[in-house]
Amino acid sequence: MKRTLFTVGPVEVRKEVLDAMTHPMITHRSKEYEQLQRDIVEKLRETLDTDMHIIISPSSASGLLEACVRNGVKDKMLGLSNGSFGERWQSIGEENGKQVVKVCREWGKALKPGDLNSSLDDSVEAITVVANESSTGVLNPIKSIAEAVREEYDPLIFVDGVTSVYGTDMEIKDLDIDALVFGTQKALALPPGIGIMLLSDRLLDKASEVPDRGYYFDLLKMKKMADKYYSLTTPPVSLLFALDFQLDRILEEGIQARYRRHREMGDLVRSWASKRLGLFAEPGFYSDTITVINRKDLDFSKFNTGLKEKGFEISNGYGTIKERTFRIGHMGDLTVDEIKGLLEAMDEVLETM
Ligand SMILES: Cc1ncc(COP(=O)(O)O)c(C=O)c1O
Repeated sequence: MKRTLFTVGPVEVRKEVLDAMTHPMITHRSKEYEQLQRDIVEKLRETLDTDMHIIISPSSASGLLEACVRNGVKDKMLGLSNGSFGERWQSIGEENGKQVVKVCREWGKALKPGDLNSSLDDSVEAITVVANESSTGVLNPIKSIAEAVREEYDPLIFVDGVTSVYGTDMEIKDLDIDALVFGTQKALALPPGIGIMLLSDRLLDKASEVPDRGYYFDLLKMKKMADKYYSLTTPPVSLLFALDFQLDRILEEGIQARYRRHREMGDLVRSWASKRLGLFAEPGFYSDTITVINRKDLDFSKFNTGLKEKGFEISNGYGTIKERTFRIGHMGDLTVDEIKGLLEAMDEVLETM
């Protein structure tokens, strides 16, 4: 039976998007490739409305989260966290030998601008923060956090946009940040395999002073090739054909319509969850791409099996709240009608339990 994914990534990918990957192979040093990458960059720029530099990486998003740390920090960084992915970025810093000041808030609560004050000083070279915390379903107020940082200090600000970009309007033009990282397998609704980073001149300037940046994720090398619309190493060409095709589909839908659709899907799932089991995230900071729902005494494994038999798949909880919650992904190309179908099926399965 065909199963539709309401997962947190990889997410449902439409057949015509998958089909775009069957384009005959081209070599990655050809003129045809150069045109493909140029088209993609222009469409990324147009859909996201940004003047930042754009780097496309043949890796999952984590590669670029690591690139931020390796290129932008000599000694000391500050990692903000209110969930599993915030903690992950802190560990990436430590595992790359950086001193990491950890600012952690309770899971499920949003990070607030005031959380930083006492931990920030001139010795902090960069701050890492996750926009949409996929483990808790909290959308952190990135703009006000970045503004609060800039009021007194001038570190680089790195943002994990893995489950927010293309699903939530991050108003990138108004964000004074130095990197925004995301991947293909979330709200872009493509298979996994490509990481994308928007970056600032300040990050590139800083990288030129940081030793031991490595080779694969050296942003200066990557940027030099990106300026010519090539990739430093061999990229997943088939996936790039699908990305180009998908960006045309996004342009056709209209980016604001895409964001509105995500809001509508999020509202529907939240309304179901608050009536049935309860939401994990703090009110006022709900994610429009992922809803994290309290399990209470629900046998999740049985519930998800029942859903799978009806052609739907949702996601388990994650990290320390794995056993207490489950997650629904409502992002990418899913429609409001598909979400309504899922919610009806969830009601039906619950009745049989
Ligand atoms: C918020 C967030 N950051 C980072 C990652 C890691 O991304 P990737 O698996 O593409 O490396 C994920 C994956 O789920 C995520 O949700």
